[in-house]
Formats: sequence, structure tokens, C-alpha cells
Amino acid sequence: MAKEIVVSGIRPTGFLHLGNYFGALRNYVRMQHDYDCYFFVADWHSLTTHPDTSSLKESVHYVLAENIACGLDPEVACLYVQSDIPEIAELYLYLNMLAYKGELEKTATFKDKVRTQPQNVNAGLLTYPVLQAADIIVQRATKVPVGKDQEQHLEMARNFAERFNHRYGDVLVVPYTFNYGSELTKILSLDGTGKMSKSENQMATIYLADEDELIRKKIMKAKTDSGPTGKGVPKPDYIENLFTLMQLVSNYEVVAKFESDYKSCCIRYGDLKKQLAEDMVMFIKPIREKAAAIQNDKAYLSKIIKAGADKARENASETIKMVRKAVGLNYV
Ligand code: TYM
Repeated sequence: MAKEIVVSGIRPTGFLHLGNYFGALRNYVRMQHDYDCYFFVADWHSLTTHPDTSSLKESVHYVLAENIACGLDPEVACLYVQSDIPEIAELYLYLNMLAYKGELEKTATFKDKVRTQPQNVNAGLLTYPVLQAADIIVQRATKVPVGKDQEQHLEMARNFAERFNHRYGDVLVVPYTFNYGSELTKILSLDGTGKMSKSENQMATIYLADEDELIRKKIMKAKTDSGPTGKGVPKPDYIENLFTLMQLVSNYEVVAKFESDYKSCCIRYGDLKKQLAEDMVMFIKPIREKAAAIQNDKAYLSKIIKAGADKARENASETIKMVRKAVGLNYV
């Protein structure tokens, strides 16, 4: 039986951070053996906010290198670059006719960008979720592993697919978000001000490319307080976040000890951060070193990019054939 198809993408706008890892990549690595996986670098999407392309090539290579360093096997999962797949742009065009200005303007990420880059509110930014829907739908994916911040985009992708099917017949596969476990992940910034991201406070974002000392420094500066004020008092979200990170990189006994210290109100956040910093260094170091080595192997990266493009295009072109037929674009 054919495996279910999985698609997900990451923008090449800088080094990947812990939010990208725990929200997306960790799932990719687990999913690659159970599903037919397509993972790509969303270079077109990055143009909506980063028009300067002087370092784009390096960034695209680095995202691919980091994907592989985290455990993706290009022999197993299809790794490719979005702009190598013109079928995505064609589907984007059809879906644009089914996307309404009002709903696009109401999208949280669009409103956020209008606020942060008022000098460049371009149409690509407005139709960003349509392009994302095309990425997914063109490969006929059912499952899309993403972090919590992408939930609304996925809901929109479902709407576009359903509208298309309603108008032209049941052709498109309707996609859903996916995460092992129940909830989609949201890793907070270490200063407790929102989600960890490439564009916010750099000292509050831990990158998979950070050197050991910098990782320690960032974690030791993470926001804490003077400790629980009484038994049974729930953890504030910035403390919960440190525990979440600890669950991800420390062993079970370590987490259990700090959980128990928290419950009995004798936790020392300085000790927790020291432990977390050491475990984080152990976690990131091999990824950083492997990614740097792959980044230098341009022949290997070129081979992966070409092979990925061939496979992704072959699959996407089948969808486009069905879409053209359904829309009625066959004149000979
Ligand atoms: P991007 O490049 O911002 O992020 C890549 C992935 O990392 C996840 N992520 C997080 N998860 C948890 N906590 C965080 N703090 C955090 N920060 C980032 C994101 O949810 C995402 O899964 N629009 C997408 C790229 C994209 C895409 C697609 C994704 C384009 N086309 C098709 C899926 C399917 C984006 O900007 O991701």
C-alpha cells in the first residue's frame, strides 16, 4: 500500500534554532521511515521578507546541511528547494483565485508583518498562506509536521483545497497538521517574551550553530524568578519552557529531580540552568559540527538538491495534470 505523504518546509532566513528543531525537525526525523516524506527549503517564502539575496545560496545550503545533521537521510526523505519546483507556482496561481483578500488580511502572520515591516507590505506577503498551501497540496500531503505558529496557515490550506474541490471536483488532498503527541509545539524565547524566533532578541534564541560558551551564556541569562511561592502553584510559562527544553535534552532522572524540587518548593533555578546548559551543549555540539562539515561539501549538497528536485517535480506534476484537467485547461 502506498504510504501517506508528508510535506513541510523551513525558510532560509538564518540559522535554525531550538524552536525549529523541536517544532518541526524532530518530527521530520521520526516520520521519514514511516511516511513518504518531502521536506524543502522555502526560498520563495523568504523573498517576502528578505529581498536581499546576496547570502541566499549560503543560507539555503545551511538549512539543508542542518536538516541532514539533525538526522534526515536524503536517501530516505526527499530534500529539495522550493524554487526548483515550478509546479508549486502554477498551483499557487489557481489557488489565488480561491483566496479572498479579506481572509488574507486577517491572517495573524500578515498582520504581524504589516506591523514589523510597514515599508514593504507586498502582495507576496499577503498571499504567503496561498503559496504555503500550494507547497503542501501539490505533493498531495495528508500530514504536515509544523510548530504551533503554523496552525492558522494549515487551516487556510484546508479551506483552499476544499474550495477547489467544491468548484472543480474532488481532486485535491486536504492536509492536516501533525505532531507526535497531541499538541503542536511552541518553544518560547528565553526572555519569556513570546515564541523563540530568528527575528527577536538574539540572546534569547538558541541556534543549532551556537558555540558551547554562547549556549551556556544564553541559558544562564534565561528569565527565572525567586521560585514557587507555595505548593501546587503552577509554573509560569518561562519556567515551564525551561522544563520543556530540559525534557527534550536531559535524561529522565535529571528532569524528575528538578520537578520534585519544584513541587517541594526547594528548587534552585541556578542549578537547573547549569544542568540544562551542559545537556544543551552536549545536544547541539554534534549537530553544529556535522552541519558545518556538510556545508563545506558543495558537491554533496548539489547532488542532493538535484535528486530532490527530480523526485519532487515528478510527484508534483501528477497533481498539476489533474488540476489542469479539472479546471478545464485542455484545448487540444
Ligand atoms: P519557519 O521557517 O518560520 O519555521 C520552520 C518550522 O519551525 C517551526 N517553529 C517553531 N516551532 C515551535 N516553537 C517555535 N518557537 C518555532 N519557531 C518556528 C515552525 O512552526 C515551522 O514548522 N511558513 C513556514 C514555512 C513553510 C511551510 C510550508 C511549512 C512554507 N511552506 C509548507 C509547512 C508546509 C515558516 O515560515 O516556517
